[in-house]
Amino acid sequence: MRTKAAVLYAINEPLVIEEVEIGDPKDREVLVRMTATGVCRSDLSAARGFGRPHLPVILGHEAAAEVVKCGPGVTRVKPGDRIVLSWSPNCGHCFYCLEARPTLCEVYTEAAGVGTLWDGTSRIRTPGGDKIHHFSQTSSFAEHMVVPEAGCVPIHPDIPASIAALVGCAVTTGYGAAVNDANVRAGTNVAIWGIGGVGLNALMGAKVRGPAMIIAVDVNPEKEAVAKRFGATHFVNPGEVNDVPEAIRALTEGRGADYTIECSGRPEAIEQAYHSARPAGTVVPVGEARKEETVTFPARLLPDEQKRIVGSYYGGGVPERDFHQILGLYRRGLLDLDALVGETMPLDRINDGFRMLDEGVETRSVVVFE
Ligand code: APR
Ligand code: ZN
Ligand code: ZN
Repeated sequence: MRTKAAVLYAINEPLVIEEVEIGDPKDREVLVRMTATGVCRSDLSAARGFGRPHLPVILGHEAAAEVVKCGPGVTRVKPGDRIVLSWSPNCGHCFYCLEARPTLCEVYTEAAGVGTLWDGTSRIRTPGGDKIHHFSQTSSFAEHMVVPEAGCVPIHPDIPASIAALVGCAVTTGYGAAVNDANVRAGTNVAIWGIGGVGLNALMGAKVRGPAMIIAVDVNPEKEAVAKRFGATHFVNPGEVNDVPEAIRALTEGRGADYTIECSGRPEAIEQAYHSARPAGTVVPVGEARKEETVTFPARLLPDEQKRIVGSYYGGGVPERDFHQILGLYRRGLLDLDALVGETMPLDRINDGFRMLDEGVETRSVVVFE
């Protein structure tokens, strides 16, 4: 079938809105119609060449959809079901799936690396018949797409599409970093770097646990108001203090924060997050730097300070379980996900969505489909 999509042909070029050809769903694949997709920093990073995506490609990975048609062998969804798309579908049988680390699934990681579906082929072509690559088994910057059944998580049809879309990436990534990986305890101090789509959710996740203090750190002074609206008790702007770890120690009886969660992906922020945690505290790097970037820690401090560094990816838990947990909290009014949705726009304006993300919008831009 023909569908409208936003295609990336070259790094640092705008996405091209055009008709593409989508093949029929094969074994355990599902044809879906997108209902909403968030504009995430990881899409923009890919468009700039981070992670070196295979080109041409249809980006987009933070999405909600409706099932249109099921390929052979599909059992977990049926046409008409409302779903959140997981960008880390897993096989359930490999070493890491059995280790309860589904986001490291060996089958998924291999397919994601070559820009195809699990069988190593693509379902997307240009009208001229040239191959277009998949992105993270989602490619949600398109009205329709074929995805693996394993990435389709059915949800209650009442959940608004924009909310469901954000649960597919930013919410789960940030919330899980605080709840699963940091495992914030009540009455403690938490510091969070990068108050964007992911960081705001780390903030909300931390708040659910009842910490005494949440310190938001962002280079954009406009983030102070939004961080405080979402529950931050303090704000530190690295441009306004001499030394960020010192500023955080000054707020925490000289010790440093119990938990530091880094959501900007900037190497200097990762180093600050390490130095701002108290001895034996927990450091959670979430944001993704460029592949060639490095961070440096004084070697002697690693053993002496006894800090735990817990890398966090897609919330560190089981995404499908976490989607349901998060939506349960939302339905009970305990997570204000509505406040996350910023400007909504049609797919034709996706390049504006990228520009706004770059300029530092307060909340998430979401593409909504008719
Ligand atoms: N220190 C603190 N904050 C910073 C710094 C820094 N050195 N540099 C940038 N920031 C802030 C920006 O001002 C912005 O508020 O980080 C925030 C990033 O937010 P978004 O652009 O909305 O990015 P988001 O979608 O939240 O993704 C953040 O997580 O999934 C990964 O690839 C993604 O690395 C990215 C990160
Ligand atoms: Zn697996
Ligand atoms: Zn994302």
